[in-house]
Amino acid sequence: MLTRNQIRALVNEHGHDILDHEHMRIERTSYQHGCITTYAHSIRVACLAVWFADRLHLWHRVDLRSLIRAALLHDYFLYDWHDWDDGDHRLHGFTHGRTALRNAMRDFRLNAIERDSIACHMFPMTPTPPSYLEGYLVTMADKVSATRETVSLKRFNRPKLARR
Ligand SMILES: [Fe+2]
Ligand SMILES: [Fe+2]
Repeated sequence: MLTRNQIRALVNEHGHDILDHEHMRIERTSYQHGCITTYAHSIRVACLAVWFADRLHLWHRVDLRSLIRAALLHDYFLYDWHDWDDGDHRLHGFTHGRTALRNAMRDFRLNAIERDSIACHMFPMTPTPPSYLEGYLVTMADKVSATRETVSLKRFNRPKLARR
């Protein structure tokens, strides 16, 4: 069974070019849920998705590299959704998977698993389910992380982030 540190090392190994990309600056300065930035949220989702795959013994069915890269890019929409659509956040939930995919395809080479998992990560809020097991793991890890981050009491004292 993989430890926390081993999982984090795998995420760095397979996702360092994504984490180091200059556009990640936008994710580092945008809150996603509570006091968690989109950047930190993406790393949590990647670690949790790997943890699920490990604990559910799915390694013979899951491509680790695609799983990590899809998780790191699932919210690569590159704006602060709190400022977007005049504070009316309803559309963001439905559209940001596609926006993340468009941005990710511009900045990285993605395979079919990665593309599909990013585009469909908001299922079942959006109608199309993921086509690959990796996509279900990203969706599951995202829901669990988002819920934890949203209900955390730390959200009440979040530091102001420097804007680019
Ligand atoms: Fe998302
Ligand atoms: Fe997310």
